[in-house]
Amino acid sequence: MLRVLTALKPTNILHIGNYFGAIEPFLQQQKTGDSNFLFIADYHSITVPQDPDELRKNILFATAAYLAAGVDPEKTTLFQQSYLQEHTELAWILNCVASMGEVERMTQYKDKARVKGETVSVGLFDYPVLMAADILLYDTEIVPVGEDQKQHVELARDLAERFNKRFGETFVIPKPMIRKQGARIMGLDDPEKKMSKSAPSEKNYISLMDDEATVLRKIKSAVTDSEGTIRFDESRKAVANLMTIYSLVTEKSMEEIETEFAGKGYGDFKIALAGHITAFLKPMQDKINSLLKNEDELRNIIKQGAGKARSIAQKKMIEVRKKIGVS
Ligand code: TYM
Repeated sequence: MLRVLTALKPTNILHIGNYFGAIEPFLQQQKTGDSNFLFIADYHSITVPQDPDELRKNILFATAAYLAAGVDPEKTTLFQQSYLQEHTELAWILNCVASMGEVERMTQYKDKARVKGETVSVGLFDYPVLMAADILLYDTEIVPVGEDQKQHVELARDLAERFNKRFGETFVIPKPMIRKQGARIMGLDDPEKKMSKSAPSEKNYISLMDDEATVLRKIKSAVTDSEGTIRFDESRKAVANLMTIYSLVTEKSMEEIETEFAGKGYGDFKIALAGHITAFLKPMQDKINSLLKNEDELRNIIKQGAGKARSIAQKKMIEVRKKIGVS
C-alpha cells in the first residue's frame, strides 16, 4: 500500500498553477495508487482573513473542481480538513517539537511576512506545522505538491524524525513528489514570481473558471521579452513560462512547439496558446458548473470522506497521546 496525500487551500479561486502543480500529479497517482487522500485545507485558508460566506462557497467550489478534474471518491478519500479536530490537535503537539528557528526559515512565510509586516497572523507563521500534522497523521509516504511547498514537506520530514527519535517509531517519513515541468508556473505579469491566487492583479493568473475572452485578454497582456522568437531557454523566464503552459495543455514537447512556431512571433503564439488553454479548461468548467447545481451532494461526499479519514486519524492520535505521556 502506498499512501499519497495532498491538499489545497480553498482561498479565492484555483488557478492553472494549482492544477498542474498539485491536482494533475495527484490524479496520476490516483490511477495506480491504492490509498489516496485529498483534502480541502480550510484551516490553512484562515491564516489570512476570509469572508465566512465566501469561504463556504470556495469550499464547495474546490470540491466540485476536484471531482470535475477526475478525483474519484471511490479511489480517493476526499474530505474537508476542519471536520477532523485531529489535524489541529497534532499541530499543537508538533508545535512543541518544532523550533522557532526552523519555522522562521520557511521562505514562504518570510515572503508573505515582508509584505504584511507585524500584522501577519501567528497562524500564517505556524501553518507549516499544521501542514506537517496533516501529512503525518495519515502515515503519508508521497506528497504531490508544487515547488513552493517542498520546504514545508521537508519540515514535516524533520519533525517526524525528531518525534520518532524522542518518543519511539510513530510517524512515516514522507517524501515530496514534484514534477519536472510545471511545478512552478510563474505569474503572467511577473515571471520572477510564482503564479498566485493572492496576486494583486488578475492578470497574474489564469483561473480554472476563466472564459475564452478572459483567457485571451490575460495571455495577450502576458509579459514576454525583446527576442521575439519561440525558443525554450530557462533564462528567458517569461517565454519559458508561456511555453511550459503551452506544453502542459497540449502535451507537446518544447521541440514540437519550437518547430510549430519557427519564423512566427509572439502574436501568433499567444493566440494559439489562449485557444489551447480554453479548450483544456472548457470541459472541466462545464462539469464544475453542473456539479455545483447539487450542493448537498458535494457536502455529502466530503462528509463521507471525513468519516473514512477519521478512523485513521483517531487511531494515530491515540498512539501519539500515549507516546508523549498524556494518556
Ligand atoms: P496552496 O493552496 O497554496 O497551493 C496548492 C497546491 O498548488 C501548488 N501551486 C503551484 N504549483 C505550480 N505553480 C504555481 N504557481 C503554484 N501555486 C501553487 C502548491 O505547491 C500546492 O501543491 N500548504 C498548502 C496546502 C496544504 C498541503 C497540506 C499540501 C495544507 N496541508 C498537506 C500537501 C500536504 C498550500 O498552501 O497550498
